Amino acid sequence: MAPVPTSPIKVGHIDDVQELRKAKPTTIPERFVRDMTERPTLAITLPSLSEIPSINFSSLVNGNKDDCQNEILQLARACEDWGFFQVINHGIDLSLLESIEELAKNFFMLPLEEKQKYPMAPGTVQGYGQAFVFSEDQKLDWCNMFALGIEPHYIRNPKLWPIQPPKFCETVEVYSREVRKLCQNLLKYIAITLGLKADIFEEMFGVAVQAIRMNYYPPCSRPDLVLGLSPHSDGSALTVLQQGKGSSVGLQIFKDNKWVPVQPIPNALVINIGDTLEVLTNGKYKSVEHRAVTHKEKDRLSIVNFYAPSYEIELGPMPELVDENNPCKYRRYTHGEYNKHYVTNKLQGKKTLEFAKIKSKTSTE
Ligand code: OGA
Ligand code: NI
Repeated sequence: MAPVPTSPIKVGHIDDVQELRKAKPTTIPERFVRDMTERPTLAITLPSLSEIPSINFSSLVNGNKDDCQNEILQLARACEDWGFFQVINHGIDLSLLESIEELAKNFFMLPLEEKQKYPMAPGTVQGYGQAFVFSEDQKLDWCNMFALGIEPHYIRNPKLWPIQPPKFCETVEVYSREVRKLCQNLLKYIAITLGLKADIFEEMFGVAVQAIRMNYYPPCSRPDLVLGLSPHSDGSALTVLQQGKGSSVGLQIFKDNKWVPVQPIPNALVINIGDTLEVLTNGKYKSVEHRAVTHKEKDRLSIVNFYAPSYEIELGPMPELVDENNPCKYRRYTHGEYNKHYVTNKLQGKKTLEFAKIKSKTSTE
């Protein structure tokens, strides 16, 4: 989420989706209408057999030996088979989750001119607006975003920290600290599932980069034509996502060639593996493509935290995970290089990770 100086980008007029919805509730401008191949099929999602796994964090931390070992096994499966899981009993105060949600919602409900005091400049990813738009003909997401860099401090742009609603900044600060601890702890257990020493990621990451993004998806009269958020994988090591209470079901992950909805579990947090962990684990734990769809009547809020190594850290598959049967699939680069590549390209499934792949003639991945 570092500021990215780029040549002037022509993105054309970007409608604010909340304003659009207010002014013309049934109009979908052409720039939001997806090509046929991209439109979400809104087939009724039967209570699916394939629910993303849930992990009981308190069993990992406080459980007896058996419980803990069992949970580590579940975590290993969740990382390897799904790349996504929901964490229950994560230890973050529920009142804090409620506060951040309330404040995020209140922020999005402010008048447009108030929110526009914190504009996301074209080609950058902090502030209020639409990220990842680089051309006038690119399709737009049915979403308003507000994003802030959190750690290390030098990535912060203090001009973008809002005055309204009151307590917003303090709450973001406290919330981010809690989420950061959760990421550090989860990475410890993830290291254990890989047979590595628990502190390996903590030691490797330096002062980890952390950013927060709040996504607000207003209802859409034609959810069959638009996407809330384009398909992508996250550039992070780990992502922690909080879904607003009472929000519509909107997050979907691409698994076995199908889009599987993530049914929110009250008070749980959704965790996913980002591209960085895929590279570090030499593809053992893969980042998973996901997207958000909209709802005809209901709005949706998500609060997303990205946790990644410090920009100067050089990354590549960890030697412990490379052998004859698992040849090295990714090259070495710094996280700063990857971040720059990520934020200067539109969201397009797992395409961004091509940056890191070693292309062999026989490789099919
Ligand atoms: C993201 C993301 C999904 C959601 O912000 O990277 O995947 O449900 N969000 O908002
Ligand atoms: Ni994402």
